Amino acid sequence: MADITGFVFDMDGVITDTAKYHYLAWKEAAQANFGVTITPAVNELLKGRSRMDSLDAIITFAHQEGKYSQAEKQRIATEKNQRYQTLIQSMTPADILPGMADFLNLLDQKHYPLAVASASFNAPFIIQQLHLQALLAKVVDPGTLKHGKPAPDIFEAAADLISSPYASTIGFEDAEAGVKGIKAAGMFAVGIGDAEILHEADIVFSSTAEVDFDRIKKAFEAWRQ
Ligand code: BG6
Ligand code: MG
Repeated sequence: MADITGFVFDMDGVITDTAKYHYLAWKEAAQANFGVTITPAVNELLKGRSRMDSLDAIITFAHQEGKYSQAEKQRIATEKNQRYQTLIQSMTPADILPGMADFLNLLDQKHYPLAVASASFNAPFIIQQLHLQALLAKVVDPGTLKHGKPAPDIFEAAADLISSPYASTIGFEDAEAGVKGIKAAGMFAVGIGDAEILHEADIVFSSTAEVDFDRIKKAFEAWRQ
């Protein structure tokens, strides 16, 4: 029976919760540039999507498609990112989601290689703020990828960073598109959140506090048979 050879993690919603900061920064940008107030429901649609895809989704929500040049969109995205970067300066290890620091330490003690598969260009900075840079030293550069989630590219790149064959790599995700990406890469998917939304995952925990190594290992072994 093949053993697990590595773990790859989405960051936002799995390691820490940055959605509230993205929401604040996009809310201000949407108000200032498009005169609309984005709702929590719109914010849900932005989770896991790249910066420019998020902006396009907000422009669609504001019914202002086709109104902005690429240069204007770039300016708005840059301003949003500057605001976001100011907000995440205040992040500390207390912002690690419940149970995840212990879980990452356990994996490290067991000598599993770990990598981060986040769509965020700010992931390395956030990992530093959380004091996780020793455990999560391998981070995919999203700028090197052709296709975002739900494509498998980012998960494959993360597994490649730690030389872990895809079929024995465990991927963690809180977003439906992310779970689809993990499955498209041929990996075992751990979902964090609503089991109905994440029904394509191989095992789902309702929150990070529930994540359990032995249950994952058992479910992986059953899946590999
Ligand atoms: C994802 C977030 O992790 O990163 C998205 O869930 C965000 O909301 C995306 O748009 C890109 O992040 P950044 O930091 O590069 O703008
Ligand atoms: Mg996520």
